[in-house]
Amino acid sequence: MTANGTTESSGAARANGSASTPPAGTRKVRFRIKRCEGPGKLTRWETFEFDIARGENVISCLQRIAAHPVTTDGKRSTPVVWDCSCLEEVCGACTMVINGQARQSCSALIDVIAPNDGDTITLEPMSKFPVIRDLWVDRSRMFDALKRIKAWVPIDGLYDLGAGPRERPDDQAVRYTLSECMTCGCCLEACPQFLLVEDEAAWAESFIGAQAISQARLFNMHETGAQFKGDRLDTLMGPGGVSDCGNAQNCVKVCPKHIPLTESIASIGRSATAHAISKWFAGK
Ligand code: SF4
Ligand code: SF4
Ligand code: FES
Repeated sequence: MTANGTTESSGAARANGSASTPPAGTRKVRFRIKRCEGPGKLTRWETFEFDIARGENVISCLQRIAAHPVTTDGKRSTPVVWDCSCLEEVCGACTMVINGQARQSCSALIDVIAPNDGDTITLEPMSKFPVIRDLWVDRSRMFDALKRIKAWVPIDGLYDLGAGPRERPDDQAVRYTLSECMTCGCCLEACPQFLLVEDEAAWAESFIGAQAISQARLFNMHETGAQFKGDRLDTLMGPGGVSDCGNAQNCVKVCPKHIPLTESIASIGRSATAHAISKWFAGK
């Protein structure tokens, strides 16, 4: 979807400058926002301040700024650009660094993060992904990582394949939790081993991160998805794989979906060891 605050076309995410005057608020809140006009361009900080009503979130405040982009020193600026889609913490697109922590802006309620009159909220783009503009970053590295680990269940056609293999309820419960990953990037933003790498060759060899490792576990646990288990483990045993994890455990603390990322990393580490031993015995 379009992430430009001026051209956003999805329902409540629209920020086209035509919104009416903000309703009478209960208190003033300041927004200190890191601005950047495009890849490689210089960054600058701008501050906006206005009255807010109860129940607002960061996105509704960004929409107000888009409608009236005038800074606290009276300078007319441009609408802030950000990305979003679902507005219910499911797609991960609206992730940004809010008051120093990566999280979803659609579920960041102003009443919680800035409860007092005169509070300041700082908004920055995530630092581990290339900035496209303002708060909008390019998360394609995460989707590329999913391709690298073949994060899908292979089927050989769209005809009726029957009931499929039986699954144990315990495994289903674990897989359900793992499947809630929304590719938001919070775990990667918090990880000291995951680095912003713009060069594609270096990117392919730098640490893949907890998100992809956990998704490899998800698909390896699926009876049909396990057909690619060996390929996934080969990838995760290579450069940038599971052995690059420094076990800092930052990832698991910040995941908004409470995915047991360190359990996934440990599980993949054990599977990789077993895979390496079986390859050795097979002379591969
Ligand atoms: S446990 Fe591994 S993946 Fe998680 S934050 Fe630490 S280094 Fe990164
Ligand atoms: S594992 Fe959690 S923090 Fe990481 S991308 Fe998925 S949902 Fe986001
Ligand atoms: S807009 Fe989808 S998670 Fe916020």
